[in-house]
Amino acid sequence: MAKYKIAWMPGDGIGQEVMEAARIVLDKLQLDAEYLPADIGWEFWRTEGEALPQRTIDLLNEVDCGLFGAITSKPKQEAENELIPELQGTGLTYRSPIVRLRQKLQLYYNLRPCKAYQGNPLNYREDIDLVVFRENAEGLYSGVEFHPVEDDLREMMKKYAPALGNFDDVAGDDMAMTVRVVTMRGADRIIRRAFEYAQKHGYPTVTLVEKPNVLRETSGMMVRVAREIQKEFPSIELWETNIDAQMMWMLKNPENYGVMVTGNLFGDILSDLSAQLVGGLGFASSGNIGDELAVFEPTHGSAPKYAGKYIVNPHAMLLTTKMMLDWLGETEKAIALENSIAGVIKEGKVKTYDMGGKSSTLDVANAVAERL
Ligand code: IPM
Ligand code: MN
Repeated sequence: MAKYKIAWMPGDGIGQEVMEAARIVLDKLQLDAEYLPADIGWEFWRTEGEALPQRTIDLLNEVDCGLFGAITSKPKQEAENELIPELQGTGLTYRSPIVRLRQKLQLYYNLRPCKAYQGNPLNYREDIDLVVFRENAEGLYSGVEFHPVEDDLREMMKKYAPALGNFDDVAGDDMAMTVRVVTMRGADRIIRRAFEYAQKHGYPTVTLVEKPNVLRETSGMMVRVAREIQKEFPSIELWETNIDAQMMWMLKNPENYGVMVTGNLFGDILSDLSAQLVGGLGFASSGNIGDELAVFEPTHGSAPKYAGKYIVNPHAMLLTTKMMLDWLGETEKAIALENSIAGVIKEGKVKTYDMGGKSSTLDVANAVAERL
């Protein structure tokens, strides 16, 4: 029996081809694993009305971890239009399977490192080495949304937010609402993981990126929790910044930041910006991590227009694979993989179009594998 069971989830779009790239390096590393294909993605939405079938959740509950490529997400109406005729008009609503998977399996933090590898022509600066801890199971992604807004909710708004005035002249159908949910438990565990990571990897600071001057309750709770947790980590300084200003500072002096921790939507935004500083989404890896299970996925989406062309940059997927190896405790393999990726980038011979090259997705994977 293999040492590890890994759920294998290419998803759709370029997910398929970047996962092929991952497999090339995993096979070269001879990881003692069994890869179990799992259904997830657009095809299953279209034909079953469920992009994340229960059989996939069941499988995930049995494996050591999952590796995931990419999934197409579309807004509500567009998604409904693509259902097979039998399923149209049956009241199915599309919600991103990856977001649901994070919540259902309580993969409560999303680890998104961004490092400038030497020789990458796309680096914004050479000295960037940061990590975004994105809260992954609540916040504005909680799925607490309303449309139309019914009378009981309006009464609540009048009661709790009198400054808004009343919306008596706005029809319920003309109003929509998304609620940002933060719990002490959620705040505590994400911030704690960020401090632990900073300690383990020698980062001197943790920056909490929120907006407590306006989001007084949700961001306020994050700030209170962070200040308490910092006391347990006296050698690490806590910096508190606002998300808007942080965006500016990320362009001005990103080298000042190491570990950053923030809520779900802010983290989504901050991690894309961070990725661009080190070459774009082609270099951005991520892991959805819980206490016992983790699902690793590149930060990029399914890029349907490139699907099947084998031209996208697999480094994000390969760095994601490296993160998975780290999480499994396969430290030597993880280090070897990262060194090979760094070597290929530095040499600058085998590179995809985004880096100014002509190599294919699998050329890059093979070049990385060759160095292993
Ligand atoms: C990401 C993606 C997802 C998100 C989408 C595809 C739902 O942008 O992983 O960053 O918003 O979390
Ligand atoms: Mn995103």
